[in-house]
Amino acid sequence: MKLKLLPPDSKVWAPRQWLSCALPFTIFIFMLLFYLTREKLNLFSQVEPGLKSGELHCLGPDKLPGQMVRPFRKSLTTEGDLQLPQFLDGWRKLVMLLDPLGTLFTFATQEASEKLSVLESYSQGPYSTHYHTFSAMADWEQDPSKHSSGLHTLVLLHRALHWAQLCLGGIARVQNANVGALCREAYQSVLGPHHTWLIRQAANLAFLAFPGQSQILELVCPGDSEQEAQEALSRVAGMLEAVYNRTQGLLAERGLLT
Ligand SMILES: *[C@@H]1O[C@H](CO)[C@@H](O)[C@H](O)[C@H]1NC(C)=O
Repeated sequence: MKLKLLPPDSKVWAPRQWLSCALPFTIFIFMLLFYLTREKLNLFSQVEPGLKSGELHCLGPDKLPGQMVRPFRKSLTTEGDLQLPQFLDGWRKLVMLLDPLGTLFTFATQEASEKLSVLESYSQGPYSTHYHTFSAMADWEQDPSKHSSGLHTLVLLHRALHWAQLCLGGIARVQNANVGALCREAYQSVLGPHHTWLIRQAANLAFLAFPGQSQILELVCPGDSEQEAQEALSRVAGMLEAVYNRTQGLLAERGLLT
């Protein structure tokens, strides 16, 4: 776990009272999140064959970005709907992709991991026929006596996906970007308003240890040139955007965006 602490003269370490108790707590949360996410990821390491990768090495079937794009693309195959099992599969790969990038990503993926488990339990549970697509789920959960939280959970994943899209898209687009600032902005506009004060402070601390752009590109597409990695990341972000757009439309149709 790489939570780099700043030297004592930094403004972050100004003697603010809250920090003295918030910091140890924050570090504890990070370590816990990191540990929990690691544990869960081991379950999802199988390789998916058969992705058409074009010429990009990093989008091949044995590479994580490729393995992520493929199920997300499949989740969009029904016009005007979202295939949930494929969506969840894509999300699991996204978690695997983001997790090694640093504490801030772990931060977002831990929350997502929990939500994924909830939706996976529905999509594999006794009412699985109602959880094959977004529309089926929305129809089923319209009846409040069902007491299921699939839609609510999907909204949370939808937001986290938006953040990942903006952050990764920025890293793909900009040269020598201050990616920490870029992803922090995306965090503050998309996720921050829905998080508690303490979580927001912890996230802001994590941004201080945000890895550099070339480090992220190397982690996403190991061994590829930065240009190739950026191209792959841009396609990844494009796929996330397509999934985001579809889900956004579906949620809006049902009046589920608050
Ligand atoms: C997503 O929606 C936006 C706004 O409607 C649009 O500009 C963009 O092209 C869409 N992206 C994809 C990948 O469908």
